[in-house]
Amino acid sequence: MNIDHPSSAIPTEPVSTDPVDRVIAYHVRTKHHFNRYARSLGYLDWANQPNPFRRFDGAQLVRLPLLTQEDAPQSPSYEALYRQGMVPSQPLTVAALSRFLELALGLSAWKKAGESEWALRNNPSSGNLHPTEGYVLLPPVDGLDLTPGLYHYASKEHGLELRADPSPDHLTALLAECPSGAFLFGLTSVHWREAWKYGERAFRYCNHDVGHAIGSARIAAATLGWKMALLDGVDQNTIAMLLGTHRRDDFHDVEPEHPDCLAVIWPGEDVNRVAPSGNRAVRVVPLSLDAAVVADLSVGPWHGKANGLSGEHGVHWDIIDEAAEASWKTSRERSTVPLPPGSHDSSGTRDASRLTHDAGVIIRQRRSAVAFDARTSISSATFFHILQRVTPRAEQPQFQRPMPWDVLPWDPAIHLLLFVHRVDGLAPGLYVLVRDPKRLPLLQQSMNPELEWTPAPGCPDDLPLFWLLQGDAQRLAAQVSCHQGIAGDSAFSLGMLAEFEGRLRQGGAWWYPRLFWESGLIGQVLYLEAEAAGVRGTGIGCYFDDPVHEVVGIKDLSMQSLYHFTIGGPVDDQRLMTLPPYHHLARRS
Ligand SMILES: Cc1cc2nc3c(=O)[nH]c(=O)nc-3n(C[C@H](O)[C@H](O)[C@H](O)COP(=O)(O)O)c2cc1C
Repeated sequence: MNIDHPSSAIPTEPVSTDPVDRVIAYHVRTKHHFNRYARSLGYLDWANQPNPFRRFDGAQLVRLPLLTQEDAPQSPSYEALYRQGMVPSQPLTVAALSRFLELALGLSAWKKAGESEWALRNNPSSGNLHPTEGYVLLPPVDGLDLTPGLYHYASKEHGLELRADPSPDHLTALLAECPSGAFLFGLTSVHWREAWKYGERAFRYCNHDVGHAIGSARIAAATLGWKMALLDGVDQNTIAMLLGTHRRDDFHDVEPEHPDCLAVIWPGEDVNRVAPSGNRAVRVVPLSLDAAVVADLSVGPWHGKANGLSGEHGVHWDIIDEAAEASWKTSRERSTVPLPPGSHDSSGTRDASRLTHDAGVIIRQRRSAVAFDARTSISSATFFHILQRVTPRAEQPQFQRPMPWDVLPWDPAIHLLLFVHRVDGLAPGLYVLVRDPKRLPLLQQSMNPELEWTPAPGCPDDLPLFWLLQGDAQRLAAQVSCHQGIAGDSAFSLGMLAEFEGRLRQGGAWWYPRLFWESGLIGQVLYLEAEAAGVRGTGIGCYFDDPVHEVVGIKDLSMQSLYHFTIGGPVDDQRLMTLPPYHHLARRS
């Protein structure tokens, strides 16, 4: 069940011009409290519910082939995704692109109740509102039978809308430094889609969803043996120019898109490419783009005008624009990341039964549980395995971290406060997973000094999991998660504690969205891991911020909980009918 937030008056904060103060003010202002939720309309304006499908009228739509599970390229086993070198790299063809976009951002099903029908997607979204839009920028590639250019992904049509077709030479120049066969993937957000329901807190939800989409894209790329890295050295004006969100005429009088991030994707075999001399080529991946080339590209020609998503906007939430502006990334960094010398299997654990699951099946069957049975338990081995999957091995260089953590060019900033309810062999209570072991002192300093940090009994040596308190935390977990039973009736739930004020003051206000992206990426891995373990997960964006912090005695802004999650035995809603994802389209090949 999704919670609607009643509106109420909130205190005004002193105005500061420092962007970090401004994002912190946004964060504090959009906290939910036991006696006061963050500001929103307080009811759902159904007449103006935003259309979840953006289209660009006048842009040519290239329909991608609708592939069955048996069509090539087929998905590998789910477990193979996490073992480097296990998935052969596919060439970039229309079929491979179709598979990538389907698994990253495509539809997973339609649900029907009475007269209402709504689509679900492989990437989840708070309230199923889907603020995230996806783009690909394709240079000329041998064997890829598509006009080079920038395309918007239309998920309902499973097609690509050609937004811009600049000169192929410019596109080639843009990616000249990237591994061969590379293309770009971009994400934007329509803030209004979330603000319509959630009001001021919506900027947080949009960024969670970006994190989920980064994860779904990274994992979809892995099914094709492709690599992916966030181009975090690029400034946001450049992203806007490349994705066309700066084109006022194309968005005239309709909901704008906020440019979030760009990533480079490339076929993984490049890692082993041998230089003509016979030596292995020394390869690096640049995390930036040449802004001058982007400026040349942005001349176009451009095609299409964005569709309107709502008839009227009852309330405009200025604070969201304020947070977006304060966290706008103006800096450019010309950093590069070296590719590792060769493939190797770096998986922490092996579980033969998991090799039987098809990755595509797991990705498509992912759903949010709407309720849990308050009965199902999981084994401690499964619990530890899930936690290993969200541990990025921060001591390794970026591209040697396990998938999907190799996509983020920063050290982990999020740690997990776990409410363990039903894990066989593990006492119920509160635990902490320190996702980067060297941050343990910071975590300990920010929490109640009387907490005892005992290594969790039976836990693998390489998993920094600590037991803080013993006891039944079911009621507590539900209470602090906006009284949602899903946080207590599961096997375990958790809050994602971000290293907050320190990261923002050190890195800049543009770190604020990134903390949510990392949380969303953790959520995406947890969703799939739950499916692979035969249980189910649900993201939880509605929680009472400070009451969560009080559970472990966090009194300042050093750590802040940014997202919650719960995993357990689901109870399905039998009233809903499920239809296939592309039943509305005739079968195409
Ligand atoms: C960032 C985020 C926050 C969410 N918050 C909640 C929540 O507080 N309560 C809830 O019941 N579901 C929550 N969900 C689950 C969504 O409602 C669900 O993803 C959406 O309805 C789409 O359904 P699906 O995940 O089955 O595709 C959240 C999902 C995301 C991604």
